[in-house]
Amino acid sequence: MWNLFKKLTVGLVVGGGLVAVANSQEVPVSFQLLFFVVSLIGAVTFALLDAKAMSVMNGGMSFLAVTAFWVFLISVCVAGASFLPQFDPEDEKAKISKLLDKERKQSAQGKTEELIARAKALDQQVKALEDRLKGIGGGQAVATIQAPPAGDKSAAGSGGASGDIMKVGEEQWQLQECYNCHKLRGEGGKKRGPELDNIGTLLTIEEIQQKIADPKSFMAEGYDKEWQKGIMPDKFKDLMDPKEMLALATWLGSFKNTAINTPKPIKKK
Ligand code: HEC
Repeated sequence: MWNLFKKLTVGLVVGGGLVAVANSQEVPVSFQLLFFVVSLIGAVTFALLDAKAMSVMNGGMSFLAVTAFWVFLISVCVAGASFLPQFDPEDEKAKISKLLDKERKQSAQGKTEELIARAKALDQQVKALEDRLKGIGGGQAVATIQAPPAGDKSAAGSGGASGDIMKVGEEQWQLQECYNCHKLRGEGGKKRGPELDNIGTLLTIEEIQQKIADPKSFMAEGYDKEWQKGIMPDKFKDLMDPKEMLALATWLGSFKNTAINTPKPIKKK
């Protein structure tokens, strides 16, 4: 009896130790439980070694005993397993397809954005052509096609425009995710790119516009490698219309914080 108690105690202590270690390693709870149960089974097995030998059986009796033993063992296993969390394959499939769906939608959205960008680029080309037409004296024809409503605000240049420009500029900074590479107002710039708080002192609005439209046009001093590799993406002229780009450049040009060491832009083109 004393022996049985001792061995079970060892089983409990070892099991507890295993659970503690497993827990510290963030092993799932079901596995911790499994370790504990296995160490208890081990203890019981060792305890059984102390049991008195059974009397020898033979014939039909031994067959019955072995069968009964297996039935018992199998029942224990099945019963034990039914306590574990059950997974319904249909349930899991539904979850997986939900995840996939989200991804599919996102990639569809990506395509839409690409199409919008292309449409914008085309729109710009059309505008450029129109301007040229006007230049050659075909303006009349264009005007009749696209007669702007009388008193169109954007054409008249409304008085409150400068506030709007700043708002559009800041919005573009966020939309085009310039902050991913550039620190501004102490925020952003996780990827390598210069801090831009003093860019307004170093570049004119037109030059900033040039840099955004064609990143190769200027190189930030000390950023030779990044400039060479073309880290700053050459895609913004397709993603913004000219007004948006002007707004972004104007907004950036208003940053003239000389306390920040924005590198000197070197003209390349
Ligand atoms: C993927 C990173 C990345 C993104 C996104 C990015 N840039 Fe840049 N940018 C750089 C790197 C790197 C440099 C420095 C090398 C160079 O001049 O090309 C730079 C340089 C500049 C400079 C010149 C700074 C100086 O001191 O000469 C300006 C201005 C600038 N970026 C504006 C922008 C604006 C506006 C956007 C968003 C429309 C933007 N960048 C998006 C990486 C990026």
